[in-house]
Amino acid sequence: MKTILVVGGSKGIGKAIVDSLKNEHTVITFSRTPSEEIGIEHHTLDVLKDTLPDLDSIDGLVYCPGSINLKSLTRLKEEDFEEDFRINVLGAIKVIKKYEKVLSQNNGSVVLFSTVATKLGMPFHASVATSKSAIEGLAKSLAAEYATKIRFNVIAPTVTETPLAARLLRNDKQKLSMQDRHPLKDYLQAEEVATLATYFLSDASRLISGQVMPIDAGITTLKL
Ligand SMILES: NC(=O)c1ccc[n+]([C@@H]2O[C@H](COP(=O)([O-])OP(=O)(O)OC[C@H]3O[C@@H](n4cnc5c(N)ncnc54)[C@H](OP(=O)(O)O)[C@@H]3O)[C@@H](O)[C@H]2O)c1
Repeated sequence: MKTILVVGGSKGIGKAIVDSLKNEHTVITFSRTPSEEIGIEHHTLDVLKDTLPDLDSIDGLVYCPGSINLKSLTRLKEEDFEEDFRINVLGAIKVIKKYEKVLSQNNGSVVLFSTVATKLGMPFHASVATSKSAIEGLAKSLAAEYATKIRFNVIAPTVTETPLAARLLRNDKQKLSMQDRHPLKDYLQAEEVATLATYFLSDASRLISGQVMPIDAGITTLKL
């Protein structure tokens, strides 16, 4: 049994990760929304603003807060880039710095999130692609710095049906069009992304570190 901290475990991919772990592991969650979930230790906090609690021992950390701020460069203000960078990158760094000692003691595993938009240039993704490219660089650098102590891996999903992506999947027409854009003719469900996250948290992936793993329904790799 491991102890896993899921930052952003109240909804979306983080919630799916919590659901898949909670019966076999000790799960700790942070989010701004209070949780009534039974059997987990929840801390209601804003990861950017609040002091993070001391935790005696954790084996795994998943950082889920992120953004999909899709605008043309002319509409993106410098503040948009800063805000996206804060939630995607600086929040993750704050959490990793806080818990790197306890993670090191346990040969811990850290899972971070990128996006397909770092590999495939897509219009209006300048801000999120900038932040998520930083996450990929951060993970590779820390994977080297902490080799043998903490593993760092990144999951780069395509569109996943969560509250964050709700504006992209508002109605049947949008959903069908999103399915059609992908060579494998579908977008992701949160549980499918959670499956890969739980693999990276488990000992089955003990020799995998510094990787960026797309789950992309073919969109960055296949041309039909
Ligand atoms: N969904 C997609 O299509 C997609 C595609 C590519 C990449 N991703 C990436 O995958 C990751 C997970 O995405 P998701 O769709 O599951 O996101 P989501 O539905 O927005 O869930 C994010 C989670 O983070 C928490 N959170 C957000 N801001 C926080 C803060 N300041 N302090 C503490 N908790 C905070 C949220 O809870 P509260 O609101 O209660 O705080 C929620 O539990 C993100 O990094 C995202 O960029 C998602």
